[in-house]
Amino acid sequence: MSRGPQSFVIVAIDGGAASGKSSSSRTLSERFHLLHVDTGSFYRAITAELLRQGVAATDLPAVHAALAALQFSTRLHGRSAQMEIGGRVVPEAEIRTRHVNDHVSHFAAIPEVRNALLAYQRDQADVARQHGFDGLVMEGRDIGSIIFPEADFRFFLHADQTERTRRRANEGHQDSIAERDRLDSSRKTAPLACPVGAISIDTTHRTLAQVVEEMAASIAVRLPAP
Ligand code: DC
Repeated sequence: MSRGPQSFVIVAIDGGAASGKSSSSRTLSERFHLLHVDTGSFYRAITAELLRQGVAATDLPAVHAALAALQFSTRLHGRSAQMEIGGRVVPEAEIRTRHVNDHVSHFAAIPEVRNALLAYQRDQADVARQHGFDGLVMEGRDIGSIIFPEADFRFFLHADQTERTRRRANEGHQDSIAERDRLDSSRKTAPLACPVGAISIDTTHRTLAQVVEEMAASIAVRLPAP
């Protein structure tokens, strides 16, 4: 049950691949009745769509032209926001392929790609309000720094690389985590970094439950669980 607009909270969770963002943000969304927004899935959907159109990340004029023709909207899937491109949700199976894993950081480094998603990501707060959520938990790489620098809660998750590679392998995904993090951290626009003032949590030796408890303890001060 929604508590009304006064208690609407925004939780920003940033971190590298397999740092624990997704599991913890899904759990928080359930516990506090927040809309869950995985912005990595937005970059993946755009990447899948541009690759489908035969556009290479190195061909900037083609990227700009293709972006200008894309229309974004949102569909709810349970508590999660799914991005529609031209009215179609790009299926999970298409956005988690090896091909997309290999290209997504290159597209995500292009300022026009990030700009094309800026307002859309911020608009997810309105989507959450319209659907009666008590707030929004958004995960990504630049949420606490660029998208919602004024978020009520900002967390930065990290874990050592061996542990993150093990987590991805357990999920059955082939992913060059180290290479993606290198590209995501070294790009000029909105590089992956702990936002100033964010709470940094090392998840290497912690269970999901422990990570969630640490975050939930801060959030519960503002928003007691329903
Ligand atoms: O969270 P993920 O691994 O599914 O994200 C896929 C890629 O998208 C990641 O390598 C970097 C990029 N990304 C980004 O640049 N900014 C975000 N807010 C979210 C993802």
